[in-house]
Amino acid sequence: MFPKGSAYSSIGLDIGKSSVKMLQLVKANGKFKILSLACNVFEATDVPDKDAAKKELLIKTIKKTYQTGFFKGKKVITFLPSQEVDLRQITVQSEDPKEIVKAIGFEADSYLPYKAKDAVLDYLEIGETLINGEKKKKVLLAAAQRNKIDDFLDILKGADLKCSAIDILPMAHLRIINQSDDMKKGTAVSVIDVGHEESRASVFYQGTLLLSRGIRFGSNTLTKTIIKELETDASTAEKYKSEYGIIEGEATPIDFQNDEKQYFKEKAPSLILEILKDDLEVLVFEIEKMFNYCSAELRGIKPKKMILTGGGAMVKNLSDYLKRKLEIDVELWNLSHALSNGKEETNSDGIESLSPIFATALGLALREQR
Ligand SMILES: Nc1ncnc2c1ncn2[C@@H]1O[C@H](COP(=O)(O)OP(=O)(O)OP(=O)(O)O)[C@@H](O)[C@H]1O
Ligand SMILES: [Mg+2]
Repeated sequence: MFPKGSAYSSIGLDIGKSSVKMLQLVKANGKFKILSLACNVFEATDVPDKDAAKKELLIKTIKKTYQTGFFKGKKVITFLPSQEVDLRQITVQSEDPKEIVKAIGFEADSYLPYKAKDAVLDYLEIGETLINGEKKKKVLLAAAQRNKIDDFLDILKGADLKCSAIDILPMAHLRIINQSDDMKKGTAVSVIDVGHEESRASVFYQGTLLLSRGIRFGSNTLTKTIIKELETDASTAEKYKSEYGIIEGEATPIDFQNDEKQYFKEKAPSLILEILKDDLEVLVFEIEKMFNYCSAELRGIKPKKMILTGGGAMVKNLSDYLKRKLEIDVELWNLSHALSNGKEETNSDGIESLSPIFATALGLALREQR
């Protein structure tokens, strides 16, 4: 449910490595619509190393993003950066919440690199399993250092916002695909959020999270390689990624041999693919490794569908490339994956196709929707 008495959801706030995204839902006539959304990119050169300056830049960008949209209220739902959260799947004996809390405290103490008393712990029940014929509960344990959470809350406070919840990223991703036909059919589905320098890959099955991994590959990884190999600047590299993208196969025959510009345009996608091959292979290798782990360790589950989100998913032809390499169905995320029997719809301003850049912010805003 949305906050008591309100037709508005909390604002989904996605603080990324290169941009801040916000999205808010409104309930009208029993349907959910997008009330407002906004995104602000930081210049890569603006991101300072010093913690205090970085905090200031984030506060400034969050404030600016809030002002760019037409948001109601100050409540936000956000998530901690994945590197600050330890996720671990454990099995517990008991159904009793008190016993579960005890078990996760014990488990956390044994594996966290910091003391459990300095951590904020939370858990999520993700199903059941049989061990030696005995039914056990599977629980996803999430832990973060208390001082990291305090720093994060300070940023929100600085931006004059109120935090209604801190989520974990894979749960936001589950919500944006949970109503898709594949999930309803009980197929295992993977979501890959391609960000700036990192991607987050998760596998979902029967309405729950199976596993989630970080991959050191992002859209900026490709930008940096293009800059280096073609000795060009960042904006040209960005243009190549979104306009030409990557296409496998032979370059098309050229009719305009003496028109150098046209020659490059025709050849560019296969040329860029050649340049980016090593980077892309890292992504493919890591996804394959994760899928193999699912097959070997998790009841032989193999995702049949992969959905791409995040700004990096918009590298032209990335989904086709992954489809060929991984031999599974790959789709760029769109709003229809999140629609539940027409309960949500886009607003009258005509945001029919919500960019995959906003997928995470939507997943956060959907947390309060029942
Ligand atoms: N049309 C496009 N084609 C290719 N790449 C794009 C396009 N639009 C944005 N990007 C790239 O997407 C990245 C930003 O995506 P996104 O906003 O999802 O990342 P982020 O959330 O800031 O990062 P992270 O998730 O790693 O914290 C940038 O590196 C940008 O270059
Ligand atoms: Mg992101």
